Amino acid sequence: MRSMDLQRLICPARRTSLRADVTAIEGDDVIEGVLIAEGGGPYAVRGGIPDFVSDDVARSQTVQSFGQKWAKHQYYREHTRDFYTDWYLQRYGFVDRAGLRRALEDVRFALDAGTGSGRDAANFAELSDATVYAADTSREALGVARREVTNPRVAFVQADLNHLPFPDEFFDFISCDQVIHHTPDPRTTFENLRRKLRTGGTICCYVYKKKAVLREFTDDYVRDQIRDLSLDQAMRVCDGITHLGQALARLNVDIEIEQDIPVLGIRKGKMDLQRFFHWNIMKCFWNDEFDFFTNHIVNVDWYHPEHCFRYEPETFRAWFDHGWNVQAWDVQHAGISCRARKV
Ligand SMILES: C[S@@+](CC[C@H](N)C(=O)[O-])C[C@H]1O[C@@H](n2cnc3c(N)ncnc32)[C@H](O)[C@@H]1O
Repeated sequence: MRSMDLQRLICPARRTSLRADVTAIEGDDVIEGVLIAEGGGPYAVRGGIPDFVSDDVARSQTVQSFGQKWAKHQYYREHTRDFYTDWYLQRYGFVDRAGLRRALEDVRFALDAGTGSGRDAANFAELSDATVYAADTSREALGVARREVTNPRVAFVQADLNHLPFPDEFFDFISCDQVIHHTPDPRTTFENLRRKLRTGGTICCYVYKKKAVLREFTDDYVRDQIRDLSLDQAMRVCDGITHLGQALARLNVDIEIEQDIPVLGIRKGKMDLQRFFHWNIMKCFWNDEFDFFTNHIVNVDWYHPEHCFRYEPETFRAWFDHGWNVQAWDVQHAGISCRARKV
């Protein structure tokens, strides 16, 4: 991390400034060292990434699950970048890259909260002049992302969203996409993010939507079966699920549901059979643009993490009832996206 980006970090526990004891530097990039705080820390900088994650958080099942995912799937970002970038731009009402560029025009500091492979952080840096902090609990994710994302304005930091090493009201823009529902108490995490956003700043936040009855049952049932397994073992257990998704997609047939089945939360209408299964019976994701391994990771990273909360749209919308001006709202089968300005 560039030394000027490092200097803005604070001790998340004491909220005091940090003194850097640097042992390796490349150009302006601090590679190794330790961050010392009065009464807190110390926090190591390893491989250019400062580490603020406590042992308790690092050991949690969800954090471990994602760590194993990112260690296993190193080309995930490249393989899925265009698909997920387009989806992001639509859901938050930016429409296209020019729209996102306009929204980021005056942004000095942006946070990609739960950056994973760093795809969105790279987009934010490319489309603005902002310094983009990309935070994640997973060192494996950050290690891969730091290798791949070469823009010097992206600064990677290993941190839990509930204990971020930044002053309150620091960020002009926070994106927390497909992450907050994996934290132990998403509502509290949301308030913690809100504190880090300046008044007038913008947040983009996505949560999973509650699905139909059978799908919710299968989700919880499979999660219960595999949560204590390693990701490798879980992938073996779930192998048939991805194969089923592939087989259903290959049929390429629509099913016509002639009337609503309210007791099961199933809506009438015409739908591809694989999609029908996926949304109503069990997550069996399949996208022909991805290889089998990537499709399988998408399925397993749904079932494996212990924390995976799903929301009714009105419950999520209520998060924005006070102190927010909602600018974009999008509800899909998969999840709910909201862009809002803090007022
Ligand atoms: C499904 S991935 C989404 C990654 C990225 N936002 C994207 O859209 O590709 C969820 C990410 O959230 C991270 N994560 C989960 N809990 C977290 C927490 N408490 N603090 C920071 N990151 C967290 C995981 O390590 C993982 O990389």
